[in-house]
Amino acid sequence: MSGVNDIRSTFLEYFKTNGHEVVSSSPLVPRNDPTLMFTNAGMVQFKNVFTGLEQRPYSTAATAQKCVRAGGKHNDLDNVGYTARHHTFFEMLGNFSFGDYFKERAIELAWNLITKEFGLDRNRLLVTVYHTDDEAFGLWKKIAGLSDEKIIRIPTSDNFWAMGDTGPCGPCSEIFYDHGDHIWGGPPGSPEEDGDRFIEIWNLVFMQYEQITKEERVDLPRPSIDTGMGLERVAAVLQGKHDNYDIDLFRALIEASVELTGVKAEGERRASHRVIADHLRSSAFLIADGVLPSNEGRGYVLRRIMRRAMRHAELLGAREPVIYKLLPTLVQQMGRAYPELVRAEALISETLKLEETRFRKTLERGLSLLSDATSDLKKGDSLDGETVFKLYDTYGFPLDLTQDALRARGIGVDITGFNDAMQRQKAEARAHWAGSGDKATETIWFELKEKHGATEFLGYSSEVAEGQVLAIVKDGVAVDSASTGDAVQVIVNQTPFYGESGGQMGDAGKIASDTASLSVSDVQKKGEGLFVHIAEVSDGTIRVGDAVVLTVDHARRSRLRSNHSATHLIHEALREILGSHVAQKGSLVAPERLRFDVSHPKPITAEELKVVEEMANEIVIQNAPVTTRLMSVDDAIAEGAMALFGEKYGDEVRVVSMGTAVHGPKAGKPYSVELCGGTHVTATGDIGLVRILSDSAVGAGVRRIEALTGEAARAYLSEQDERVKQLATALKVQPGDVVSRVEALVDERRKLERELADAKRKLAMGGSGQAAADEGARDVAGTRFLGKVLKGVDAKDLKGLVDESKAGLGSGVVTLISVSEDGKASVVVGVTADLAGRFSAVDLVRVAAAVVGGKGGGGRPDMAQAGGPDGDKADAAIEAVAAALAG
Ligand code: ALA
Repeated sequence: MSGVNDIRSTFLEYFKTNGHEVVSSSPLVPRNDPTLMFTNAGMVQFKNVFTGLEQRPYSTAATAQKCVRAGGKHNDLDNVGYTARHHTFFEMLGNFSFGDYFKERAIELAWNLITKEFGLDRNRLLVTVYHTDDEAFGLWKKIAGLSDEKIIRIPTSDNFWAMGDTGPCGPCSEIFYDHGDHIWGGPPGSPEEDGDRFIEIWNLVFMQYEQITKEERVDLPRPSIDTGMGLERVAAVLQGKHDNYDIDLFRALIEASVELTGVKAEGERRASHRVIADHLRSSAFLIADGVLPSNEGRGYVLRRIMRRAMRHAELLGAREPVIYKLLPTLVQQMGRAYPELVRAEALISETLKLEETRFRKTLERGLSLLSDATSDLKKGDSLDGETVFKLYDTYGFPLDLTQDALRARGIGVDITGFNDAMQRQKAEARAHWAGSGDKATETIWFELKEKHGATEFLGYSSEVAEGQVLAIVKDGVAVDSASTGDAVQVIVNQTPFYGESGGQMGDAGKIASDTASLSVSDVQKKGEGLFVHIAEVSDGTIRVGDAVVLTVDHARRSRLRSNHSATHLIHEALREILGSHVAQKGSLVAPERLRFDVSHPKPITAEELKVVEEMANEIVIQNAPVTTRLMSVDDAIAEGAMALFGEKYGDEVRVVSMGTAVHGPKAGKPYSVELCGGTHVTATGDIGLVRILSDSAVGAGVRRIEALTGEAARAYLSEQDERVKQLATALKVQPGDVVSRVEALVDERRKLERELADAKRKLAMGGSGQAAADEGARDVAGTRFLGKVLKGVDAKDLKGLVDESKAGLGSGVVTLISVSEDGKASVVVGVTADLAGRFSAVDLVRVAAAVVGGKGGGGRPDMAQAGGPDGDKADAAIEAVAAALAG
């Protein structure tokens, strides 16, 4: 008897042998269909291949596809637990032909697989065809040798399969297995068809049309094949069960649940174990595919599923979180086929635990309110909408949870009353935010949020997705359409674009519809949950309601990811080097660089920066996976996650961890652990390289660090390297000798400058030192006076020369004036000590200064200096000093 894992691989192997490409399951959140909440069939990932929009390098394929049917067209949530074959999560095995083979080969392949490979008894098989499909009827006869009564014509939509309201569709033919007359039920099309005796195991869809709108249907470019076989169903048949929950996979999960709760899976408790087993699967796979519980969209469907399971755990007597404890069993069963489950195990586990912890806080009180409110109700009654809303609003009971809780007693709920209560609350909230000031001008975003709900962000795991345009805003007003050249803001139901927050800039990229293309320059978050794409229509006309493909500029986003992850590494390294007082004061994660402000009272030294950079790169080189988990803020902080003071966090936060600490008390533990909603690299190695450029001050006690990563860091270093090489060439040395060579050159230059200055001085003074002074002096009214205008002597050398000259004279007055190249005069006057009583250098220098057009002058009585603009009057200035000496 085959286990689920064997059946899955036998199926894929069979189609591979028959020339099919085995393609991995696509994620549960469809990237290529904005109208679909979850991937609900194997064909979803091939939708555009069927319609001819997309080409693939193969024309036949086979998959084992993860599917969720909860919310949307195919919604099985309410039935799960109470029937033998409903699941919110299931696997669909399928083979596909994109214009390759059609009905005949499809029937042949299917028949051979189930009768030969799977070895099902052909006498127990029967099929249906769409009532007008004579061709399929004939083929079943020919290929399978089925008698006419085993080929049943069905005239209803049961045998016409459609993905949704729009998309590829066509007549189908279903294969049924007869479990035998010991089980009640009739063949398809009979009044007893809902019984469990005849079970559909495989649906072959002859894809021929595309439903464009409700009214319009067109032919597909080429007739194609889409088939779907529920793995759980076929496993039941192959394992001799007629209840899916009795197959090996579910038995393992239910046994784990029984063991955990100590309650047997019997009687009225059987459904609870089934609900838990089923909902554990959908929750785990949804979380692994990036959906997290929330109050909107997909996140809310997940929350409903999780809470429904949690209520059933409560029914089984659980008084603390339990669902997450079943996860290891699921990973053991399915982790090999779906490695994403293993990769996301920590995230799934913590998300389940957190949700259950939070929900448990109100669950018991909610249930007691429910029991009080319904104590007087009897079968057929309805619980009033106000109470249902209160349970929803105050106790976190989704509507379907309340319905499920009352189901066994045959009590319904007043849905209209519930909706009215919900509307009233929304109206109050609206009155609250339609306030004044800035908020008022932003009212449009709140209105749009109110109307359309929050934008679903797909960008943690995807950079391309389809979406539907919900609103276009032009010049502050909502419009129906926009055309070439218009600057607009676009709201879409779901987007891979990151909206600026937490220092990380918004994404840029493209939005394209069938009729328009837009270039997006930025994305901002507004109205508490709307992602506003700031864009220009580069071509065509875009309309509200259009389906669009949103493509994030990948290269730019990669740089943003690297820079964001690098800020975390730098932050942690700074704390380690400078101390834990270091707190992030702001950051800018731009594509081309990162900027990071931290509190620190003094400059960060070059040595410290070097160590910080080395530590960051140490983690880069580890190439450690970057993991994200969802936790409550308190738990995250208790675990040591860095939270930013003053930042507003929701109840649940993403906690991003990267690397393993190598030094210090954290050695061996996660290196950086931060609360962060940004987008990050998958593994630290993706950062490539961290290069810190500078440290500067940006206010009291706040330092700013700028850094580069990846290609920008490499380019920067390569430019630096190039410079060193050029220097080496210019200096005619090896690059390694550049520094010593430059040091030697600087010394040499200093020496040469000194020698040159000496030589110039000598030249100017007409000889060296004291003797020259004496020779050049004259007698002025009994005082020896040396007055000289010097060319080519630096003003700063004048004082030294004056000192020398004073010594040469022994007793006298010296006046030296140097004239700079631009014609300015610098004057220094010296008076020897013996004459200090008679002359003041300060007075004399002022006399000279006045002649060269300067004002004032200063110094001491024995040495003073001044300057003036008129260097050409230097000689006259000397004479003026001489005249002053003469009295
Ligand atoms: N797409 C078809 C189904 O889901 C095979 O039944």
